[in-house]
Formats: sequence, C-alpha cells, structure tokens
Amino acid sequence: MSADDALAATTSGLQLNRLASKYELHSQGAEARVWEGSLQARPVIVKQRFSKQYRHPVLDAKLTVSRLKQEVRSMMRARKLGVRTPVPFLVDHDASCIYMERIEGHSVKTLLHERSLQESDLEALLVAIGRTVAKLHDGGLVHGDLTTSNMMRRQADQDLVLIDFGLSYNSIIPEDKAVDLYVLERAFSSAHAEAGAAMFERTLEAYRRASKQWSATLNRFAEVRMRGRKRAMIG
Ligand SMILES: Nc1ncnc2c1ncn2[C@@H]1O[C@H](COP(=O)(O)OP(=O)(O)OP(=O)(O)O)[C@@H](O)[C@H]1O
Ligand SMILES: [Mg+2]
Repeated sequence: MSADDALAATTSGLQLNRLASKYELHSQGAEARVWEGSLQARPVIVKQRFSKQYRHPVLDAKLTVSRLKQEVRSMMRARKLGVRTPVPFLVDHDASCIYMERIEGHSVKTLLHERSLQESDLEALLVAIGRTVAKLHDGGLVHGDLTTSNMMRRQADQDLVLIDFGLSYNSIIPEDKAVDLYVLERAFSSAHAEAGAAMFERTLEAYRRASKQWSATLNRFAEVRMRGRKRAMIG
C-alpha cells in the first residue's frame, strides 16, 4: 500500500474524499477546512475540524467534538442575544463537521481594504461592530477571535454577521472582554494600517455607548493595552 493509499484509508481521508466529491474547498486554516456548496438547495458552508497529528488520537477526538459543540452552542447563544450569525443546520460528529448557512457578502476586512465605502457606510459599519460586540459581551459571551475577517456584511440587507465562534466561551469577567477588544484593536491596526487605529476608536465609542457594563470593561481594557505596549517594548 502506498503512502497515499494509507492516507485515504484513514477515517479522515475517507471523510475528506466524501466532502470533496460534493463541496468545493473554500479555505484551509490551522485547525479547520471550510467547504462550500449546497444542502437541500440552500447555500451552505461546511466547517470541518481536523486532527492535530501530535495529539493523542482519543484525546484529540474528544477535544474536536467538544470544540465543535462549543462552536455551535456559542452561535446559538449569540443569536439569542440578537447578534447575527450563520444559522447552524447540522452537526456531523463522526466527520467533525458543522453545516451552516452560507452568508452572501464580503468580509469587513475586504470592505475596509477596498476603500470603496462611502463615509456614511463606513461609519454605519464601525458603529454596527461596536454595538454587536457590546451585545455579545453584555450577554456574557466572549468571541475569542475578533478580527475583521471574522465579520461579514450581508449583501442582501447590509447587516453585520459574526462568524467563526471556534474560540468563543461564556464569561462575564471584564478582563476576558477587554482581551477580546484588544484582539480587535490589533486586528484593525495590523490589517488596516494607520486608518485602522482611527476606525477602532470609532468602534470603541459605539461599544461604550451600547454596553451597560462599559465602565468595568474599558478600565480593564486600558490595562490590557498597557501590558501589550510594555510587551512590545521589551520585544
Ligand atoms: N457561514 C459562512 N458564510 C460565508 N463564508 C464563511 C462562513 N463561514 C466561514 N466562511 C468563510 O470561510 C473563512 C474561514 O472560516 P472560519 O473563520 O470559520 O474558519 P477558520 O478561521 O479557519 O477557523 P478557526 O479560527 O476556528 O480555526 C472565513 O473567513 C469566511 O471567508
Ligand atoms: Mg476565521
């Protein structure tokens, strides 16, 4: 048996072949592959978590299932809080896949890069981001990976939709929310250069107005920022 045959013979190899026959590979990250296609005539995204070779197989399977469940739970929880996310359709535990609604639109990262937004649209988008994160945080949910690629603007109604809840968790601790905001700040400044800092400030202002718990969170955020700067200076 060749090395390729051996790979195909593993469960994940079989699952990969099965998905590849029906769906198109959209992207491949460190821990997940994203496929697109349709399910019962609806546009879907299939997010497949794959194993880390260095982890013990049994432990790995357990971790994968628990992260899969957590991701779906967090999406449902966000939706209950009035935050738009893709609708989860089904979870295939054996194949470590989540089937969810495919959002038609562009990521916020792409929109900001194109610089094609009118000033008023840009303002509306930044305010929507601040309000959306405030809703999540006030509801006790931390996103865990707040980057501009994990936010999309839906074509049909221009609504902001959050995706990628793979690192989300429940927390009401100001430190956790502050770190979430710090990740967002870093994402704005690294992906969108100087303009990013000003954009983040506008988002933060909208967050402050929308969040009932803004005071504790923003005090903590100032500390997290300071720690970040010190770390950057030390190198
Ligand atoms: N529901 C969706 N609708 C449209 N596009 C999506 C959807 N889910 C994911 N995508 C696209 O696939 C890309 C990768 O998906 P996602 O961010 O969920 O995975 P990831 O970053 O690889 O995962 P993780 O950070 O959990 O390891 C997104 O940036 C987006 O372009
Ligand atoms: Mg992502």
